[in-house]
Amino acid sequence: MKAYLALISTAAIALSACSQEPAKPAADTAPAAASAPASAPAAEASAAAASEAAPAAAVDEACSTVVSSDDAMKFDTADINISKACKTFTITLKHVGKMPKAAMGHNIVITKTEDVDAVDKEGAAAGVDNDFVKADDPRIVAHTKLIGGGEETTVTIDTSKFAAGNKYEFFCSFPGHIAMMRGNVNLVD
Ligand code: CU
Repeated sequence: MKAYLALISTAAIALSACSQEPAKPAADTAPAAASAPASAPAAEASAAAASEAAPAAAVDEACSTVVSSDDAMKFDTADINISKACKTFTITLKHVGKMPKAAMGHNIVITKTEDVDAVDKEGAAAGVDNDFVKADDPRIVAHTKLIGGGEETTVTIDTSKFAAGNKYEFFCSFPGHIAMMRGNVNLVD
């Protein structure tokens, strides 16, 4: 009986191990899965997918961007270009590193250039539990969550929040990261 119970609990552990493991690769394989329908050999299926997906994809690409960050405390771009034609603009932040949020977390905060230093300083004081962002800070045009290695997050910005004549920047408000993680938000035609 004991052995039987032990077997069951072993099986339960194995099961729970199994059910946890696919969760991680799922994030990695998601893009591959998403692109799979496009390469499907069935002409009918791909034609249908193209007619539905193409216009949506075109809009998304024009009014969205992906910014990658890593364990080396860097963004992969120094510029985020936002077309003035976009009513909303979506930024996806990826953290391709392995370090946890508490040690090497990253976010994207967008403010006017003149507000960057104060927002960064007060964000640091808000602490990791608040994503290093001061709550309801009116100077912040938009910000993402703070994420750790292997994670990604998305924020959609109402572009009417950008006023003509101002200069905007994006940065990571994890304490100290701004020295390495800062760039320009450009409103372009
Ligand atoms: Cu950071």
